[in-house]
Amino acid sequence: MIEDLKQKILDLKKEKNAVILAHYYQRPEIQEIADVVGDSYFLSQYAQSCEEKVIVFCGVLFMAESAKILSPEKTILLPVYDAGCPMADMADYDDVKEFIAQYPDAAVVAYINSSTEVKTLCDVCVTSSSAEKILRNLPQKDIVFLPDRNLGGYLAEKIPEKNFILWDGYCITHEKVNPDDIIAIKEKMPQAKVLAHPECTKKVRDLADYIGSTSGIINYATESEDKDFIIVTEEGILYELKMKNPHKNFYVPGKTMTCVNMKKITLKDVYESLLNTKYQVTLDEDIRLKACRSLENMHKLSR
Ligand code: 13P
Ligand code: SF4
Repeated sequence: MIEDLKQKILDLKKEKNAVILAHYYQRPEIQEIADVVGDSYFLSQYAQSCEEKVIVFCGVLFMAESAKILSPEKTILLPVYDAGCPMADMADYDDVKEFIAQYPDAAVVAYINSSTEVKTLCDVCVTSSSAEKILRNLPQKDIVFLPDRNLGGYLAEKIPEKNFILWDGYCITHEKVNPDDIIAIKEKMPQAKVLAHPECTKKVRDLADYIGSTSGIINYATESEDKDFIIVTEEGILYELKMKNPHKNFYVPGKTMTCVNMKKITLKDVYESLLNTKYQVTLDEDIRLKACRSLENMHKLSR
């Protein structure tokens, strides 16, 4: 049954000359049928440069909208219309506008996990894998960083010569991790390396051997000679980690870390998305143009 559905998706994809992109936090079966799986930065780049004119974006709304902002001529489909990002929702357009007005000399930097409207207010966007380089390339000393206080705090530690003003948002999935759960695994397995996403709190980051984006974590574990890893990010990443490293061991602290929004898309949704060309991302052209600058700057400054 599942195999039939997978085959139907692949047939329909071919017929419509579409490409399926998936983030590492997606369900394993979605990652399996995707043409390309990657982190936020890679997917944003791929969506812009690929030849296909129809993209099924298996991720959350800000990812699909970012693809539409950079490629308005393409049809961008988000298979579940309400797959959002609670962190992005923590930065409201009017509040951000009022906040940044207090810092006229600062560069306004938005994590790509933000709404299209908020992107119109920003100088540049970043992802977790591109942020450090982009920030170092910015001439301004003062940086307003939003919406993630954890990624912002991590960057402030890495780049002490800049002055960070942080918005108070966070990822509800990463924020929940209890450092004691990591310490408990380390007590039993002191050799295990802790690999954490920068969306984790400082207490968790301070326990990490490596901090990086989803692709950074996968590369680190794959290239490492170590065998045991404590993975502190959304559990979808375990699919790629285990595929690439069948003889290594991956542990998670406490309860599994799950982003409910990332898990909303099922195979049936992908099938219906291709069949009925839904849900198409549409943006007001004026807003799209204003938001585009920050994403174009992201790609320029990360080179
Ligand atoms: P990256 O894949 O860029 O590390 O992003 C993680 C994330 O939170 C996406 O929502
Ligand atoms: Fe948003 Fe966190 Fe889910 Fe990523 S994992 S989509 S930041 S809530």
